[in-house]
Amino acid sequence: MSVEPHRLIVPKIHSGTVIDHIPAGKGLRVLSILKAEKIRGQRIALIMNVESRKLGKKDIVKIENVRLEEDETNLISLIAPTATINIIENYEVITKRKVQLPSRIKGLIKCPNPTCITNAPNEPVKTSFILISRDPIKLQCEYCKIIIGTEGMVLVGKL
Ligand code: CTP
Ligand code: ZN
Repeated sequence: MSVEPHRLIVPKIHSGTVIDHIPAGKGLRVLSILKAEKIRGQRIALIMNVESRKLGKKDIVKIENVRLEEDETNLISLIAPTATINIIENYEVITKRKVQLPSRIKGLIKCPNPTCITNAPNEPVKTSFILISRDPIKLQCEYCKIIIGTEGMVLVGKL
């Protein structure tokens, strides 16, 4: 018996959010930064290493019954800049958008500078980075002014 090469391994969903075109291997990290309260208890599928015309291989995350808004998905671009967000209603894709980095990122990225105020043990200041370049991505800490790229970036919070 032959196996169809493009058979769906996870069925289409009735409603919710599909995060598609995630580079292969990054799906778990994408899932891990989503706001826990928003997706708790929902049916979620993490699909890894499926064939993609654009990327060769890709990961997909499907979350049923949850509509993720732009501010809840844009930071996915730090991990998966090629990701697309599909909002599904009644089995139809009603919105499709690309993730896009916002000009300021608060409270998600750890500042690598040990003397930065955001790393002070008794002074819990939320980190804040300003986007100074999109390609390649470069971000500047608003407090200590250090400039970082995505290489070695440490994400501490959730979206
Ligand atoms: N999808 C789903 N449930 C639905 C509709 C779509 O899980 N009811 C998923 C599809 O499997 C796909 C993504 O949502 O992973 C986007 O669907 P669609 O726009 O139909 O696919 P493509 O045209 O291939 O998307 P793109 O042009 O973004 O590659
Ligand atoms: Zn800093």
